[in-house]
Amino acid sequence: MNETHIVTIERHIIEEERKHPGARGAFSNILSDMALAAKVISREVNMAGLMDILGQAGHRNVQEEEVQKLDVFAQDVIYRAMDHTGHLCCMGSEEVEELLPIPEKFPAGDYVLLFDPLDGSSNIDVNVSIGTIFAIFRKVSGAERGALEDCIQPGRKQLAAGYVVYGSSTMMVYTTGNGVHGFTLDPSIGEFILSHPNIRIPEPPARSYSVNEAYYSRWSPPMQKLVDHLKGRDGSPGSGGFSSRYVGSLVADFHRTLLRGGLFMYPGDSVNPEGKLRLVYEANPLAFIAEQAGGRATDGEQEILDVQPQGLHQRTPLFIGARSLVDMAHEQLKGHGS
Ligand code: AHG
Ligand code: MN
Ligand code: MN
Repeated sequence: MNETHIVTIERHIIEEERKHPGARGAFSNILSDMALAAKVISREVNMAGLMDILGQAGHRNVQEEEVQKLDVFAQDVIYRAMDHTGHLCCMGSEEVEELLPIPEKFPAGDYVLLFDPLDGSSNIDVNVSIGTIFAIFRKVSGAERGALEDCIQPGRKQLAAGYVVYGSSTMMVYTTGNGVHGFTLDPSIGEFILSHPNIRIPEPPARSYSVNEAYYSRWSPPMQKLVDHLKGRDGSPGSGGFSSRYVGSLVADFHRTLLRGGLFMYPGDSVNPEGKLRLVYEANPLAFIAEQAGGRATDGEQEILDVQPQGLHQRTPLFIGARSLVDMAHEQLKGHGS
């Protein structure tokens, strides 16, 4: 008889809840509801090539990006999984400019969900890994049905954060502040099973860096110098000996960095000074996970989790991964603007 016990994500969430004195079931239910939404999205992602779900949805989102049908589907699945449970006061999504209210016919709760329903959407049609990213906060405003201030709290205030990567297998990875835990979906039983307990970013890490080098000419001189160092161009001590990996889906690039170590970078540049990635529902959740796994995440000037967001869709430069590599990058960039 195999000694390992099957631990489903639902059972793990309940056990995590016991570590939070005073936690009520609401918080655990939100995480379980997200796992359910992930299963539904995973099924659609894995069938996407067979359904009329590929191709352009025919409109552009708040980021002025062509919205793929799967983006819209994922948005709807997550919203409908959460809108009636009475646990949330409101939601914020990459796909929607304004806050997403809880319908009046449903009760409002004490938590806030922020999410990127489908990350890496440029990779949907070419069968490359994509993902979902989410963060959960406690409501801080006095507004029964939430307010913007509930959705733009510093990442340090997150109660939980996680992502789903729809890849060769579908995995859900989350933290509630007690380490990082990964679950692999077994489609034959429809359960996320604990496969990666207590994930730690390896130190010393894999000597791997991840950045879109097409933008090299737009980077600041310190950023160019940093990547030259990684490529062994400057002959300085410790220079070179790195491999380069870039999928173009943040969740996939981060997941590899979390498991193997490495350094993921999306810097600002002369065209987009704040970079492309969004602070509230991309950088913050992954930064919480990275720190919980012993890693680090900064914007080149300060820790991601200490930034006070000014808006729901605010962009930020992001340097995230193995602590030793982020430390090195941060030292080279601090004070120069990434
Ligand atoms: P989204 O699909 O949610 O808009 O995110 C796409 C992001 C992120 O997943 C990835 O790291 C980045 O876009 C890639 O951008 P470039 O194509 O500029 O490298
Ligand atoms: Mn994204
Ligand atoms: Mn997205």
